[in-house]
Amino acid sequence: MGRPAVRSVKRKTPKEEKSPTNKECPLKPSLYHSFTSLEMGALRKHLLAWYDKSKRDLPWRTLANTEPDVNRRSYAVWVSEVMLQQTQVATVIDYYNKWMKTWPTLQDLAQASLEEVNEKWSGLGYYSRGRRLHEGAKKVVLELKGQMPRSAEELQKLLPGVGRYTAGAVASISYGQVTGVVDGNVIRVLCRLRCIGADSSTPAVSDRLWELANELVDSERPGDFNQAMMELGATVCTPKKPQCTDCPLQSLCRAYKKAEMESASAANKLLKGKPNLKAEIRDIEECDAPGSCALCLPSSDPWDIALGVANFPRKPAKKASRMERTVTCVCRRLGEDGEPEYLLLQRPSSGLLAGMWEFPSMLLEKDHAEKDRRHVMCRRLQEVTGHVVSLKEIQYAGEAIHIFSHIHQTYVVYFLSLCHRKADISVKEEEGEGPATRWVTKKQFQASAVSTAMKKVFKLCENKMPDSSNTSRKRKRDTADLPPPGGRIKTEPEKQTSIQMFFKPAAKK
Ligand code: ADE
Repeated sequence: MGRPAVRSVKRKTPKEEKSPTNKECPLKPSLYHSFTSLEMGALRKHLLAWYDKSKRDLPWRTLANTEPDVNRRSYAVWVSEVMLQQTQVATVIDYYNKWMKTWPTLQDLAQASLEEVNEKWSGLGYYSRGRRLHEGAKKVVLELKGQMPRSAEELQKLLPGVGRYTAGAVASISYGQVTGVVDGNVIRVLCRLRCIGADSSTPAVSDRLWELANELVDSERPGDFNQAMMELGATVCTPKKPQCTDCPLQSLCRAYKKAEMESASAANKLLKGKPNLKAEIRDIEECDAPGSCALCLPSSDPWDIALGVANFPRKPAKKASRMERTVTCVCRRLGEDGEPEYLLLQRPSSGLLAGMWEFPSMLLEKDHAEKDRRHVMCRRLQEVTGHVVSLKEIQYAGEAIHIFSHIHQTYVVYFLSLCHRKADISVKEEEGEGPATRWVTKKQFQASAVSTAMKKVFKLCENKMPDSSNTSRKRKRDTADLPPPGGRIKTEPEKQTSIQMFFKPAAKK
């Protein structure tokens, strides 16, 4: 049934609150966008009853309800909440189980390396989340004597990457602190319940939503209440095609009423002579500050009858993504045992995808012609390997697109199969300069700290590169004089030239 509240924060009823002047509070809420005490009571009752019946069985919920150690419990909830930011529950479950199996406590995580953390996070995206969690665990162990901060305020103040949402979620779910949370799901539910159509990404509307969440949260079961709001948003009150007939809050939903009314009014308009239903019920069913209300749908955004309740929340104007193009090259060689290996470079320790591994890549500064892109790629390969790579040696594989949170990235993908290479270039050995490099097998690549974007790049090349079975040591000896399938580069396996020295696997000790 969830962790009971350990500390109650006295909730102000609307009457107790100082009535602000319009100057102090430009968003003084109309009753239309607020809840009466009666409505709040009904909402808590209906929502929690629905949650008890319908909630999903999720591993972090089991831990939150059964783990007796408060630090282990709040750590388990913290991990789940960080993983759930911008990632669907279905995807998170597997990652969560593997993470908790590897690092069941803060102390275990604090001892891990960033490399291991990035590997475990690989595929979840937004890698700074895992890095911050790791930094936070180290801070708790090294500076806070292994004790997790015990309130939302302290969590937010002391832990890196913990914002208002994560702090509220961890404190309400693992400590029973009576504090609300607002995430994307809660925004949608609240905006529909109270017909809030103003842009929820503005600070003023966001503050009002937090006020509503804090007023509504159930003082006996704050963690369950918050999870129930999020669960309702994720499973019933969904962005598209919400399931209003299954909603436990339908009778309290102003958007539902408005949608019904707008449909009835539209139907009525078709039947001449019938009274205008919308005009009749306007007094009780609309905002008491029409035209000037800062929470209503803006007049520039008229009601769309086809959307129904999905008219709320209003979509904030989307910032255009930055369009970028990057050249990248999958370099393959044969390992000692004849298994293909691929060259990876480590990204810098700060910025996008910090510390992750990638194929040699270079951001294109402008819209280059194909020949110039090859030039950029070859120069980059020369930089990282110390060897001249000619334009003809790299082969074009295609483009792979990956959307990061704010970047639309197009990878122009090449490959370089060193198994077929005839080279005569001097080796440039430089210690400690440039990014760390390593050669990995396909299996190691899949388990490495590489982004989903790089996995797409690899997949694209896999189908295009000459079959590696033709390049295995054993077969190579048999077929040394045959051209590779579809390739023009002649193989000379016995003659080890200088570039191949670089690409040659180190002898096993
Ligand atoms: N989304 C983020 N955290 C959640 C939780 N604890 N329950 C349901 N949905 C969530």
